[in-house]
Amino acid sequence: MNLPDMKKAKVRGEEVIGYYENENVTSKQFQGKKYFIRTYGCQMNVHDSEEICAAVENLGFSKVEVLEEADLAILNTCAIRENAHDKVYGYLGRLKHLKREKPELMIAIGGCMPQQENVTEELMKKHPYVDIVFGTHNINELSKMILEHVKKQEIEVYSIEGNVYENVLYKRDSSITAWVNIMYGCDKFCTYCIVPYTRGRQRSRKMDDILKEVQSLKNQGYMEVTLLGQNVNAYGKDLENPISFAVLLEQVALIGIPRVRFVTSHPWDFTDEMIDIISKYDNIMPYIHLPLQSGSSRILKLMGRRYTKEEYLTLFQKMKEQIPNVAITTDIIVGFPGETEDDFFDTLDVVKQCQYDGAFTFIFSPREGTPASKMKDELSLSIKEERLHRLNELVNASSNLKNQAYVGKVVDVLIQGVSEKDQNKVFGYTETMKLVNVIADKDTIGTIIPVRITDAKSFSLDGEAEYSKNN
Ligand code: 5AD
Ligand code: SF4
Repeated sequence: MNLPDMKKAKVRGEEVIGYYENENVTSKQFQGKKYFIRTYGCQMNVHDSEEICAAVENLGFSKVEVLEEADLAILNTCAIRENAHDKVYGYLGRLKHLKREKPELMIAIGGCMPQQENVTEELMKKHPYVDIVFGTHNINELSKMILEHVKKQEIEVYSIEGNVYENVLYKRDSSITAWVNIMYGCDKFCTYCIVPYTRGRQRSRKMDDILKEVQSLKNQGYMEVTLLGQNVNAYGKDLENPISFAVLLEQVALIGIPRVRFVTSHPWDFTDEMIDIISKYDNIMPYIHLPLQSGSSRILKLMGRRYTKEEYLTLFQKMKEQIPNVAITTDIIVGFPGETEDDFFDTLDVVKQCQYDGAFTFIFSPREGTPASKMKDELSLSIKEERLHRLNELVNASSNLKNQAYVGKVVDVLIQGVSEKDQNKVFGYTETMKLVNVIADKDTIGTIIPVRITDAKSFSLDGEAEYSKNN
């Protein structure tokens, strides 16, 4: 079989250790074979899965949605909280059972879990029926691993940090909206977070490479790009010639794709310049995910978040004042070690003041190797659950109110497909990232149309295409 030339130009400079050429192998060895993929975790993982799909399809595999039909089952895993692990181990039980009936089934585990110390060893020991383990750092070698190591346990998980891959092939899930990585890893080392250990230190892509990718997406007719990074606001700080996220964002906006989004933002790195750029360009969407994590300055300090309650509120206010109609969502952790009722009250206070459009809320989960996992945690689970419940009630009340405020308004919606709930409807998102189920012709898919909002549910809106009134 023909393996391509592997151009590993490893330039051991300060910023970039190596640029890999695309190592995807094209071989039709698995023509007619089927693969199934299950993705856990964040948007980064969802986008990684698009790379994994391209790699295995290049080997001849075609995708199926039913696990039992697959010859290759891939789990793209998440490590952010313990329950993410539990879900994967639960699913592995199902795979083990299936493999007993179908011994030729190949099982591959990828993503963040194998990037953790000891997890790969544990996987190998306790789950010997797993064929291939690969990490987020070596997706570009997956097809080689499948070709060379079929039925062998062979792992290359901890590849050198600093790698930035270019010319990566993706099998994008959508032809309307696209993810674009602008950076990998994170340097913030929040004390509870496993990401800097699993995804490594921050490595930004060069601006030119990002702009080329966005331009090519525009040429292909994409309507929306989302710039992806664990902390997009710190983009460019690690480049040989540092540039700011504001500069990149402006250049991306100027390419002229109708909608530009970005996730995730760290408040500490969010500058006034970024707020200016967001408010200056109509095609930068007025939607910001701005994780709070805690409203208590004391807990924020223990978390290593580098801002106080007051600084967060000031930034939030500035965004609300300067970006017309901006929607802001957040992430919040309850039950961080040492969190008192007073600390939690501060969190509730910020939530009341900010009236978020939505929030993802979590109970603190100790991750091995992180500083917070060694902090004394005396709170009982029932108190943590009770706090989560109180927080959720408040968060849901404000996101419901925000949704209700849309009823009767006409807003632009990018229609993305047939609605899952009702095949007679289509669905799409407002500029502010609200999901809308719309009564409209199917040929609106892929376009931005004015929609009159008729009803608000907890997590979505209903509407009808405004044009149908005139027909
Ligand atoms: N425990 C609970 N929640 C966590 N998050 C990250 N690490 C942990 C942890 N150890 C949450 C944060 C982050 C989101 C992606 O996951 O709120 O913003
Ligand atoms: Fe984790 Fe903090 Fe980095 Fe976000 S900014 S990925 S929470 S270390």
